[in-house]
Order: sequence, then structure tokens, then C-alpha cells
Amino acid sequence: MDKLEGRVAVVTGAGSGIGEGIAYAAAESDMRVVVADIDEDKARAVARDIGDQALPCKVDVSSLSSVEALRETALSHFGSIHLLCNNAGVWIGALMQEADIKDWQYLIDVNLYGVIHGLKAFLPALIAQGEGHIVNTASMGGFISGPPEGLYTTTKFAVVGLSEALAMEVAEQGIGVSVLCPGLVNTNLITQSFAVRPPAYDPGIDHQQPAPDVASGISPRLVGEQVLDAVREGAFYVITHDDYRDIIAMRHDGILAALDAHVARYGSTSGRVT
Ligand SMILES: NC(=O)c1ccc[n+]([C@@H]2O[C@H](COP(=O)([O-])OP(=O)(O)OC[C@H]3O[C@@H](n4cnc5c(N)ncnc54)[C@H](O)[C@@H]3O)[C@@H](O)[C@H]2O)c1
Repeated sequence: MDKLEGRVAVVTGAGSGIGEGIAYAAAESDMRVVVADIDEDKARAVARDIGDQALPCKVDVSSLSSVEALRETALSHFGSIHLLCNNAGVWIGALMQEADIKDWQYLIDVNLYGVIHGLKAFLPALIAQGEGHIVNTASMGGFISGPPEGLYTTTKFAVVGLSEALAMEVAEQGIGVSVLCPGLVNTNLITQSFAVRPPAYDPGIDHQQPAPDVASGISPRLVGEQVLDAVREGAFYVITHDDYRDIIAMRHDGILAALDAHVARYGSTSGRVT
């Protein structure tokens, strides 16, 4: 989508961190922006700072009806939507052998269903319009995994897979798709994930696992600018760090080595997954 001026972006999780950075970058591209977050005060503060072209909106992405209400608010205020950033997300560090089912449900409901709800609520309108772009926030944790990130990376691998299939599915209908896969970004992820966790998801356990040092990460504003570049250029993977290259190569080398070992032992086998 090369022309962004005057168009409308909806960004979830825009009250803080990367979503806030995307909202500012969209506004700097002269887009009108819906600043959506479960934390209404934070959404209001960001929208106020951006100015008249921003509309704050409360949304809980774990609820389909809440995301549908966000779509209706955006449409009634701005008349159309061109860019959807399914960005809201939360983090828990827990060993899988210790995690409570409520930990799993919290991460899956926000990080994965949040994206699915965005698609269910907004995709039909984008397809009907014949134009639009969707950015799903995954993570480097959508390519590589390890304890105590198992729960979190489960959701982020799913967002990468969903986005890859979605990009192929909607390309002919004029819809662009990007998947944002940052390494460490200096945001409120670790504290905010607990601050906004509804009591129903609280397992009452302190997992006492070390949190990633997000404070050592890059600026969310920089990530926002790179997201808007990707939207303009129609880039699929939005990679903001190169320091995971060796680990990604090691993972893929391991898969290819297993494939070669299979051929060496059993011979060539056909039968594609898709
Ligand atoms: N910070 C990092 O190092 C990093 C790295 C890779 C990926 N990410 C991903 O980036 C995204 C943004 O996280 P961030 O780092 O900016 O953290 P952040 O906490 O600063 O911002 C996330 C925002 O999402 C909101 N939110 C949480 N649950 C919500 C819900 N149910 N509905 C609507 N809004 C909700 C929070 O209130 C918060 O304002 C997440 O998907 C996260 O997994 C972050």
C-alpha cells in the first residue's frame, strides 16, 4: 500500500511500546489512527499526544465482540479502514512443567486469539474494499524457542504460521500482509502483561523465571518506522534485529539435516503437506 496519506490505521496495544511506536509512525505518515488498548488511560494519553488525527478506543483483543465493536467505532468515526495492526500482546515466563492452564489460556487468548479476532472482525471489510494491509506482531520467538519462553513462543510460532498462510490467501484480493518479528524492544511488556491480566487468568503462582531484559532493547519508535516502511513496500517479514541470525540458521540447518538423514535412511518420499 504505497499511498498512506489520509488513510486509516487501527493499532491494537497502541497505548504503550511497539503499538505506540506504530501509531506515531502512522501519524507521521499523515494517516489517521485508532489507538486501541485494553488500558484506556494509556490509549487516551497516546491519542492526545498525537493530536486530532488520533482516536483512542478501549478494546480487549481476547474478546471477538470487543474487537468487532472496535471496527464499528473506527468505521463510524473515520468511514473506512486501510491498515490493521494486530499488535497487542502479553508475556509470561514459565517452565511448561510448572505453568498453570490459566497461564496458557492468557497467552493464547491475547497473543493468538487477539490476531484471529482482528482477522474475523476486519478482513471482510478490507476484502470488500479490495485494498488494505494487515500487520501481525509475532516476535523472534516466532522462529526460535527455549525455556522459559515455551508458552510465549507457542503463540508467536502460531502467529508466524497464520501470517504466512494469510499472505498467500489474500494476495489476489489486494490485501498485503506483514509479520513483525522483533528481538528485544524497550517497552513495558514485562510489567504491563501483569498489570492488565484479568483476575480470571491469574493462577496465583509466581513462576520466578528470569524475564528478558527488554530495557536493553531498541526503541519502539524505530520499530514503528520500520513497520510503516514494510507496509509501503509490501514486505512480508519485518525483521528489526540481525543478532538472531546464527540461531535461526542453526534451527533450519537442523531441520534440513533431519530431512537429509531421512532420505539417506528411507529413500526419497513424496507427499507434501500442502
Ligand atoms: N518488547 C519486546 O522485546 C518484544 C519483542 C518481540 C515481540 N513483542 C511483541 O510486541 C507486541 C507489543 O508488546 P510491547 O513489547 O510493546 O509491550 P507493551 O506492554 O509495552 O505494549 C503492549 C500493549 O498491549 C496492551 N494489551 C495487553 N493485553 C491486551 C488486550 N487483551 N487487549 C488490548 N490490548 C492489550 C497493553 O495494555 C499494552 O499497552 C506484543 O505482541 C509482544 O509480544 C515484544
